[in-house]
Amino acid sequence: MDKLIIEGGVTLNGEIRISGAKNSALPILAATLLSAEPVTITNLPHLHDVTTMIELLGCMGVGISIDEKMSVEADAGQLTSSVAPYELVKTMRASILVLGPLLAHFHDAKVSFPGGCAIGSRPVDLHLRALEALGAKIEIEDGYIHATCDGRLKGARILFDIVTVGGTENAVMAATLAEGQSIIENAAREPEIVDLCNCLVAMGAKISGIGSDTLIVDGVERLHGAEYAVMPDRIETGTYLVAAAATRGKIKLKDTDPNQLDAVLLKLEEAGAHIERGEDWLSLDMKGKRPKAVSIRTAPYPAFPTDMQAQFTAMNAVAEGVGTVVETIFENRLIQAHEMNRMGANIQIEGNTAIVTGIEVLKAAPVMATDLRASASLVIAALVAEGETHIERIYHIDRGYECIEEKLQSLGAKIRRVAG
Ligand code: UD1
Repeated sequence: MDKLIIEGGVTLNGEIRISGAKNSALPILAATLLSAEPVTITNLPHLHDVTTMIELLGCMGVGISIDEKMSVEADAGQLTSSVAPYELVKTMRASILVLGPLLAHFHDAKVSFPGGCAIGSRPVDLHLRALEALGAKIEIEDGYIHATCDGRLKGARILFDIVTVGGTENAVMAATLAEGQSIIENAAREPEIVDLCNCLVAMGAKISGIGSDTLIVDGVERLHGAEYAVMPDRIETGTYLVAAAATRGKIKLKDTDPNQLDAVLLKLEEAGAHIERGEDWLSLDMKGKRPKAVSIRTAPYPAFPTDMQAQFTAMNAVAEGVGTVVETIFENRLIQAHEMNRMGANIQIEGNTAIVTGIEVLKAAPVMATDLRASASLVIAALVAEGETHIERIYHIDRGYECIEEKLQSLGAKIRRVAG
């Protein structure tokens, strides 16, 4: 298995481009199943999870053509199977996002049950309840979710009792082809959901309330082809900003959207960063100073994102003062703290809270990535550690960060990948 070797102590400095958002790309690719005409998606990031979703569509008979810039044309006009097999679903939970579109368009869908994962049990009960509200019949057979409906789904009121990103996505996609109106309440408002809704509208869906917690969907008989560009990745953006802040650096990020990161930018400013923004760029300058520790509490958008929690924990580990990090979305998402403590960090875990007492420098150690964002936090810790850190199991990083070594190298980091 590949590993990353990082020699710490370099201040990040320079300019890089931000890739398309993974968490938009996945539901948008799944949404191509809703149309019998070709849909072209551009600005897709070159990532394992995106390849897995394309493979999943391909194995169901969706015609796929990919050009050299990762624009994908997906044509679900000749579907041969509506089964999402265990072999693919087990490698990526987001495969569950094909359930709503398959059911709405083909009235029959079989998707393997996604298992738990390193950051918690992550059930899909709310996805299933929403589809049942729209008239689906759901049976669990041999580890598969089998959803069927007689003719079109029926518009309904769906009230989520927990804010769920994936659940909202499945519900809104299914509702676009239902008969009549659906009202989705307590919907997640993440920018990736706005992006998905905008793509669905480009395909002919009728959705109002986009960006609010109540989505109103007037079902249409069919969706048509479209061309749609995926939005920039706000979590990749945030990760590089935090890496620069932790190393006391100065960076500029191009092709990003500064308007989707308010909670993160506020915390970076509190940490002492000077932030400037333009229409599609952001810059951060620490003026050579050590960051100050900040306290954060994760919650659904527009509050502080759980996908940025681990990176801030890493920054706090070398910051001045004590920062408290409270994780409210996932039950087991502070595990990376143990690896950071192996690098000399002072992080105490109490339930869902990490109390991080900053120290001046971390020390290199062999560490292991456990999930996607946790691995990003280990990269940040390694960048500020004295000596050479070896990070194993980096396949997690490749699921979510396009060309991470190249991008960090162009910011001056001493990082290399070794095939194992
Ligand atoms: C998505 C993101 C992930 C991010 C998360 C929260 C993608 C591909 N992934 O994950 O990066 O960390 O949002 O912002 O977009 N829950 C249930 N039952 C359900 C569904 C969810 O109990 O049926 C719970 C989960 O266990 C979790 C909470 O609801 O505690 C929120 O999860 P959810 O928003 O659904 O996360 P994902 O869509 O899986």
